Amino acid sequence: MPILTERRRFGRTNLHVSPVGFGGAPIGFLETERERTAQTLNTLLDEGMNLIDTAAMYRGSEALIGETIGHRRDDYVLVTKCGTEVPDLAHKAWTPELVAATIDRALRNLKTDYLDVMLLHSCEIETFRKGEALGALVDAKRAGKVRHVGYSGDNEAGAEAAQHPEVEVIQTSLNICDQRNAELVLPVCRAHDVGVMVKRPIANAAWKQPDEQPGMYRDYASEYHRRFGLMGLRLEDFDDDVQEGGWAELALRFTLSSEGVGTAIIGTTNPSNALANLRAAAKGPLSKAALERIHQAFGSAQGGEAWEGRT
Ligand SMILES: NC(=O)c1ccc[n+]([C@@H]2O[C@H](COP(=O)([O-])OP(=O)(O)OC[C@H]3O[C@@H](n4cnc5c(N)ncnc54)[C@H](OP(=O)(O)O)[C@@H]3O)[C@@H](O)[C@H]2O)c1
Repeated sequence: MPILTERRRFGRTNLHVSPVGFGGAPIGFLETERERTAQTLNTLLDEGMNLIDTAAMYRGSEALIGETIGHRRDDYVLVTKCGTEVPDLAHKAWTPELVAATIDRALRNLKTDYLDVMLLHSCEIETFRKGEALGALVDAKRAGKVRHVGYSGDNEAGAEAAQHPEVEVIQTSLNICDQRNAELVLPVCRAHDVGVMVKRPIANAAWKQPDEQPGMYRDYASEYHRRFGLMGLRLEDFDDDVQEGGWAELALRFTLSSEGVGTAIIGTTNPSNALANLRAAAKGPLSKAALERIHQAFGSAQGGEAWEGRT
């Protein structure tokens, strides 16, 4: 029996997804070894995870995924992202030509003839409104290369994109240190029956000291690390079962407790962290009291700052 058996409805797509998915940014940006990635991904698939997220701009991520689990294509829902410039394609960002070429590139890298979901990778809302990039995704859907179309983004932009009739999936940030999208984006997704995938779901491990973070994640995680310090949460204030799992478990179960979340895509280069995350998710939502404590800490730590959702 795999660790994770739960499947969640994914908006109005016909897909059902595991509450934990795999976030493919660190394996690309940190150039994780092929063998280690193969072990992480195959273990996750064997233990009940069924969604993989990557992007054209995550350096070698798409190719690593294609090489290591392309032979198991029926075992996972495959999501990637496009629109930003990529070194080996000449077209300008957000043009229909670039979107079309990036889809073909993704199919080659990921060793597949269809993508379950293709997202526009956090474009400005003005670019989204022009409709050219989105139109190129819809064309790819008609051609059978892409099954569902979506947008990755936060705050007001995420909320607006979620209302567009062609948008079936939204990827947005939500975690203990980043709660604004739960108020702003998730209700729109629920109202329009849009599938929700949460990025940065464990706050980039904000509890770690900056010098414990690998490479570029030192800077990338620094704002969450600052917020985490100001929030003043203490593990000993939570139930014993949460304390045992530590911060990663608390952070993940917080994210998965929000109404309407389909899957939380955790980035990891570490097979044992990957397994621990599945075990944590299998424990289910946090108690009402624990959720209230985390909401309260987020609300009161901001002072006059109004913490926005992080792209
Ligand atoms: N659309 C966008 O613009 C956008 C932006 C950000 C992220 N994303 C997507 O969302 C995914 C997730 O976001 P993320 O990778 O930035 O952040 P995240 O999943 O919140 O955190 C990843 C960090 O947590 C650590 N970690 C994972 N499991 C752990 C555990 N059990 N205990 C301790 N540390 C643990 C990882 O280190 P180890 O490698 O050591 O496990 C990694 O440094 C990305 O990979 C990407 O697919 C998309």
